Amino acid sequence: MAKLLYIESSPRKKRSSSIQLSHEFLNEYRKLHPKDEVVVLDLWQKELPSFDGDVIDGKYAILHGQKFSEAQAQAWKAVENVIEEFKSADKYVISLPMWNFGIPYKLKHYFDVITQPGYTFSFSPQTGYQGLVTNKKIVVVYSRGGAYGAETGGQNLDFQKPYMETILGFIGFKDIQSILIEPTLDTPEKKEHSIAQATKQVHKLASHF
Ligand SMILES: Cc1cc2nc3c(=O)[nH]c(=O)nc-3n(C[C@H](O)[C@H](O)[C@H](O)COP(=O)(O)O)c2cc1C
Repeated sequence: MAKLLYIESSPRKKRSSSIQLSHEFLNEYRKLHPKDEVVVLDLWQKELPSFDGDVIDGKYAILHGQKFSEAQAQAWKAVENVIEEFKSADKYVISLPMWNFGIPYKLKHYFDVITQPGYTFSFSPQTGYQGLVTNKKIVVVYSRGGAYGAETGGQNLDFQKPYMETILGFIGFKDIQSILIEPTLDTPEKKEHSIAQATKQVHKLASHF
């Protein structure tokens, strides 16, 4: 029995295109894998630890090979809990809107919490940086008001998908599948066309996931 973690980062819920397509994916996945566990992590409901004070000092203590102080150890527990929940999954779906050319701050906060030396990546002068979240599959569902995909002319402004691929690759993901919904804020026809294309892709991907 596999565990799929679905991480949701749009606050628009019923009006959200990235959530709509992710639900389509998860419904199909549940039909095909009725025994698997699907855990939903809504980043607008989750209380993430602030990345400051003892928490950030804890990160630098690890990087410099120093021991935690009592206060750092206590603060670090909250970070470890979030990482543990993340790493406990075998498969992942992340949905996100583009916000100001990048990713929503809640999702950035999440990556700032889970991207930690010794937990999700390692470093040594001999081998450099290595991701520790390995042999896991992930589907990322992107929604954008404008068009930034191949041959749109907008690729240079896309700091959403390249960021996701960089950070996921950094922590070890190699098998990253993408679903793009764009443009959602142009004509209704263009949005519908994009959702229809993405729906086809979702069904194809879910059958191999
Ligand atoms: C705060 C905010 C910033 C946004 N910034 C951009 C942007 O930089 N480029 C863009 O194409 N669309 C932008 N949009 C529009 C969303 O990307 C678009 O509506 C998307 O489809 C929302 O996805 P969702 O329905 O899953 O929330 C922005 C929307 C919000 C609320």
